Amino acid sequence: MESADEKTLAPGVLRVERLSYRGKHYDVPIFDPSEPLVLRPEPARCTVHVPAEEPVIRTLNSTWDLGQFLVPRRPVSLGVLSSEELAVFTRPGAVRILDMPIKFPDLAEYRLPRALAQFAPTIQRIIDFEHKAHSRHGEYYAYLTIDQRPVQPNTLHREAPCHVDGFQGARWQPKCLTNHTYTVSDVLPTAYYPQPFDFSGLDETKHDFFWEMNAQVADTDERFRWQPAPAELTLMDCYCVHRGVEADAPTFRTWLRLSFEERRRVFDRLGNAHNPLFDYSWEMVERDIEQLHLKAWREDSDPSLRVFPWQQVDGQPLPPGAPKTKPKLRRS
Ligand SMILES: [Fe+2]
Repeated sequence: MESADEKTLAPGVLRVERLSYRGKHYDVPIFDPSEPLVLRPEPARCTVHVPAEEPVIRTLNSTWDLGQFLVPRRPVSLGVLSSEELAVFTRPGAVRILDMPIKFPDLAEYRLPRALAQFAPTIQRIIDFEHKAHSRHGEYYAYLTIDQRPVQPNTLHREAPCHVDGFQGARWQPKCLTNHTYTVSDVLPTAYYPQPFDFSGLDETKHDFFWEMNAQVADTDERFRWQPAPAELTLMDCYCVHRGVEADAPTFRTWLRLSFEERRRVFDRLGNAHNPLFDYSWEMVERDIEQLHLKAWREDSDPSLRVFPWQQVDGQPLPPGAPKTKPKLRRS
């Protein structure tokens, strides 16, 4: 582990620790705990309607159930950020973080290091809605991810197959309450696939479900694809299959994710940021999907649908600097 160049540090960041495993690199900011922002939810001032009939709302606080993938679901909209909110949200120089807890179970406040102040108004909107729509927030952590950077043409901001956030694989026994996640980006909104996904026959100890999501999206030639508007705040759950969208021109993108996970779901993955405003010490471990050595359930699908983005279609690693492999989700 080494310290990054200090002259690039954002205000409120003491240093950046750089670490890598299995060819992936992580820059983890170490935050200054002074002058924090403490946000408290005010559900009474939230004017957004909670659509109780929507599957995402109906299954909040339920236990993980693969059968729920058969129910097509769109994310729930919380509205679009105003131009004033957007001007603050998109301020350049934002600190990138992965899954940092900003709320702990049994505590109804959200603590942000001051380096993340530009995201406080958006997070306040989210938590006002969250505490209106959801009665058992005491059971949950909230993990914050921020990613801001230029996206080059024909690439994704966050390279990934079709997937869900909060998939509970073989490691989670007994199954936990479901994840629900708020996201917003100023440009290039995520693509969602509100269609039934049938995983009959797959085994979570053997098969890569994300590759099968790729395959089922390709079966339907992406015709269910749906995107929110730029700057639209949405709530999805762990059954909302989605994937980022390629830029067609150089694009500077700011993206925020706030994930609610029940108390057993401690995100102790090496590379996740530590919040110095809470007293906790987790042993951080190397963890990624590659180490599970999962296989494609359908071995005759297009090979691009069943490799990681860093692999060629024959499974070999791409040479350094080569464009990532994209799943062929459409026939033409
Ligand atoms: Fe995602």
